[in-house]
Amino acid sequence: MTESVTTRISKLKDHVGQEVTIRGWLYNRRSSGKIQFLQIRDGTGIVQGVLVKKEVPEHLFESSDLIPRESSIEIRGTVREDSRAPGGFELSLLEVSVIQAAEEYPITKQAHGPDFLLSNRHLWIRSRKQHATLMVRDEILKATRDFFYDREFVCVDSPIFTPAACEGTTTLFEVDYFDEKAYLTQSGQLYNEAACMAFGKVYCFGPTFRAEKSKTRKHLTEFWMVEPEVAFADLDDIMDLAEEYVAYLVARVLERRTAELKVLERDLAPLEKVVPPFPRISYADGVKMIKEKGEPWEEGGDFGAPHEEIISAAHDRPVLVHRFPADIKAFYMKRDPEDRTLSLSVDMIAPEGGGEIVGGGQREHDLETLRKEIQKQELPEEPLAWYLDLRKYGSVPHGGFGLGIERTVGWICGSPHVRETIPFPRMMHRTYP
Ligand code: 4AD
Ligand code: MG
Repeated sequence: MTESVTTRISKLKDHVGQEVTIRGWLYNRRSSGKIQFLQIRDGTGIVQGVLVKKEVPEHLFESSDLIPRESSIEIRGTVREDSRAPGGFELSLLEVSVIQAAEEYPITKQAHGPDFLLSNRHLWIRSRKQHATLMVRDEILKATRDFFYDREFVCVDSPIFTPAACEGTTTLFEVDYFDEKAYLTQSGQLYNEAACMAFGKVYCFGPTFRAEKSKTRKHLTEFWMVEPEVAFADLDDIMDLAEEYVAYLVARVLERRTAELKVLERDLAPLEKVVPPFPRISYADGVKMIKEKGEPWEEGGDFGAPHEEIISAAHDRPVLVHRFPADIKAFYMKRDPEDRTLSLSVDMIAPEGGGEIVGGGQREHDLETLRKEIQKQELPEEPLAWYLDLRKYGSVPHGGFGLGIERTVGWICGSPHVRETIPFPRMMHRTYP
């Protein structure tokens, strides 16, 4: 190819009037006999290249008309500003060369079923909406690192192989670990509690695993969780932190990913309302709302999807629901000194049917109370001996929460299912690709 700068589509604005080379893939094409519009994507965006029959050599016009979709190509052209073009720029093409001519691409414009798309997830992620969703996910991950770094939290990652359950034994994935049994982690929380006694304010961020048999649009068997943990924090501090963090994530996406939200046809108005303070209601208040709506309700139970729906529909921001019955929460929850049947727990329910995106609370920091709870829940004490140690050597009130990345991305993007918010979803009947 002749001299021109090699650049990426996101940088075209710096090259107006110049000749550039772009390497990418043929996303789509339209042509009439006299003019061809080639849409080229390179991972940073899509740009339209225009070939006018009477302005280019005949062989170029003819050969480029035959390039199959998703072929890898290199193009050279002059950058033109064009307010009608998506992205604001167009290329007048001078050269198109094929790196590899693709076979017939399986994903077409016609509607495909979810199974077909999931089996082709390795290709589906090239599609516009999938690409946009994963770009928003990337922004949320970057914003998470910035948020915690700016507030002096230290990232102390927790192990994936663990000896004990954190969130109940029914969803544990068991692994043969040489001559022993280990479990894939359900949450890094217990290790975070150790880490916050060493660093004060910490977070971990990694994949977590649950053998979820529920086939809802909010459950994966492998999902990513961000979990901060803070020494000398009580339930109110934890609610403040969760509120500030979630508002920060939404603001960052609104600031930096508007193009992607547009591709996703996301209504921005509800997102723009996500500013503190978020409403805070007790579990008891939530139950009252559910009963008033006449929704079936089992006394003392946990909220299901229809119950979350009622609570979220009554508010225009995420709702913090606190003080769930201790009986339906994990062994580590601190009891409410005002009413010992309750726990100092909190869930955050996202607006617009986003469901529970955050779960957390204050931890029991008294050795004997914690030990009794472990016995009561019939959990083996031995693998938790180290955890009990934390209550022997300088125990302090502390707390934290976990935010599910996929549900958060799903809510912010308006995705139909969390499986679209993770590059390669793992669900009950899916480990391919
Ligand atoms: O409410 P959960 O179970 O809380 C914990 O695991 C605590 N130990 C966290 C902590 O305090 N450090 O899970 C936290 C969040 C949920 O609110 C939800 O967003 C997400 O993790 N989550 C799932 N996301 C996708 N698929 C699943 N199967 C999920 N289970 C939980
Ligand atoms: Mg929960």
